[in-house]
Amino acid sequence: MAAWYDQAIIYQVYPKSFKDSNGDGIGDLTGITEKLDYFTQLGVNTLWLNPIFRSPQVDNGYDVSDFYAIDPQLGTLADFKALIEAAHRRGLRIVLDMVLNHTSDQHPWFQGALQGPKNPYYNYYIWAHGADGQLPNNWGSFFGGSVWTQHPTVADRYYFHLFERRMPDLNWRNPQVRQEMTKVANYWADLGIDGLRLDAFIHLAKADLHQNYPSDGADLVVAEGMFANLPAVQPYLAEFVAGVKANHPDLFILGEAASATVNLAADYTRPAANMADAVISFRYFPTKPRAKRDAVPADYQPQRLDWLAFRQVMTDWQQTLLPPRRLTLYWGNHDMARVATRMGSHRYPQQSAKSLATLMYLQRGLPVLYYGDELGLSNGTLASLAAFGDPTVTAFANAAKAAGWSSERILENVNATHKLTARAPLPWSDDIGHGFSKVAPWLAVSQDGTPVSKQMADPDSVWHHYQQLFALKQTPLFTRGNWQLQNWAPWLYAYTRTLGVETALVVVNISDTRHTVTVPRAWAQAPVQQLTVGTVHQTAAELTLSPWSSAVLTIKKGSK
Ligand code: GLC
Ligand code: CA
Repeated sequence: MAAWYDQAIIYQVYPKSFKDSNGDGIGDLTGITEKLDYFTQLGVNTLWLNPIFRSPQVDNGYDVSDFYAIDPQLGTLADFKALIEAAHRRGLRIVLDMVLNHTSDQHPWFQGALQGPKNPYYNYYIWAHGADGQLPNNWGSFFGGSVWTQHPTVADRYYFHLFERRMPDLNWRNPQVRQEMTKVANYWADLGIDGLRLDAFIHLAKADLHQNYPSDGADLVVAEGMFANLPAVQPYLAEFVAGVKANHPDLFILGEAASATVNLAADYTRPAANMADAVISFRYFPTKPRAKRDAVPADYQPQRLDWLAFRQVMTDWQQTLLPPRRLTLYWGNHDMARVATRMGSHRYPQQSAKSLATLMYLQRGLPVLYYGDELGLSNGTLASLAAFGDPTVTAFANAAKAAGWSSERILENVNATHKLTARAPLPWSDDIGHGFSKVAPWLAVSQDGTPVSKQMADPDSVWHHYQQLFALKQTPLFTRGNWQLQNWAPWLYAYTRTLGVETALVVVNISDTRHTVTVPRAWAQAPVQQLTVGTVHQTAAELTLSPWSSAVLTIKKGSK
């Protein structure tokens, strides 16, 4: 059964940073509507919008205070309807980010819950007792500190929050919570959206709250084993999805499954199980082991991708999530530093931006492109550590200072690794405010990439490479063909895609050095080359690739 999303090429829009239409420095829905032709020109067909619901913006919209309202900073319901309509007219689909695991502490449910156990909303959240001023357990939050915060008036009572303390977790054991969230999803699906990206769904179930987690002596530990991918997640997810798909069978369910292994991803995408249609795991990028003696924590130090391990990871995912299951392909998102900064070459920034794109997106799976990556943008910079407003940055800086690092070095490392510096306003032009806004933008990240207007006018730009890449991706060979790694040399990332009589070979030099490799004769002489970056030279039995070059060769069986 083919679904529309088997052809999806997804562009992730960070709404606050995409385009400001009304001059308040914050990107908004009308800004997206104004730019819809941009997406069709680039060749993407699906937009995933980071959360747009009403929110105090503690976590840029992931802290929702009203699931039925558009955040006023982003626009109105009328703006949203106009966006959907204009998008659909162009054949563009809209996927909304749906936060299931928690709400804002300003949500009326939580405000009710704070009234105490007799309030009907008390049970919408997760509470535990902490005797004698002790925390209920030693679990640490993803955003630093404990997962527990004391009730403001009842001293021995704590509420649970996996993320920021102003983002209390919902209690999915409560059937009312499950019904409410299904109702929310149906409301937006009734308005015509095409899919949902399910935020942090792997955390919906928690283990027994009164157990500590092995912590190696530390006071607190991010206890993934207690709150990630527990078996109860699956029936919760299935119930939710069934409740929406009953009315909207074509709705695309894209799950964020950050710590899911390939086998868990296979579970979550089990055909006909009414769970996710595809998931995004953060396990794609194994990094090189760190020096054991490093006194400075890893968090904000750039880590190098372990290419050998990465090949194995890609192979595992490609071979395990076979059709009708679907894979996602991505290099980055709003939760990590930009791919150009993490993986790009300093000596060959243009070539590496293009070749990394080819490498990833011509594999089998659905591309999910983070806005701005089509320009080859790198992380921007914030001027001070304080500007991050992030306690985990402070903790890192303290440890680095104690180990003798200079302030400049600390700031440089944080800028190169933090998620916030990957969320800069998109540079549209060289006009005032980069064509993003006429006033100072909401986020003071400076970003010096080549803007959209210049790249669209330059046939050799990273932008044009993406445009050609996505056109090729839409062909049956690159949508449906099977995938096979060709492990010919450590500096080479190579794979074939095969459909019927047609086979394509994708070759990428992932190094700063020119190299030659011996390949099967058919490939050394394959006539057709597409999407070439740098120079790929063929002889009778060899390919020679310039630094960070790449190309696609195709052969048809029977054609010599
Ligand atoms: C997801 C989002 C992240 C957010 C978190 C809490 O991981 O991608 O940005 O902070 O959930 O909602
Ligand atoms: Ca605005």
